[in-house]
Amino acid sequence: PYYTWVDKETCIACGVCGATASRIFDYDDEGLAFSKLDSNSATIPVPADDESDFIDAFESCPTESIKKSSTPEL
Ligand code: F3S
Repeated sequence: PYYTWVDKETCIACGVCGATASRIFDYDDEGLAFSKLDSNSATIPVPADDESDFIDAFESCPTESIKKSSTPEL
């Protein structure tokens, strides 16, 4: 499984991830993205049904702000 989080230091609020993987990514008041699976903590795996959308978003982020790990960040 994949675990994910967004680096808000480099996110430019472009909006691609929420459009591509709306069940995983949402935006804060400043438009910066975060993983709504687990409040951006990379502790809950991306559901299998959402994996392809997640990979699309991961590969589409223009600033490589979407992070991906095969282990939880504990
Ligand atoms: Fe930010 Fe990348 Fe999403 S720039 S809004 S994390 S696609």
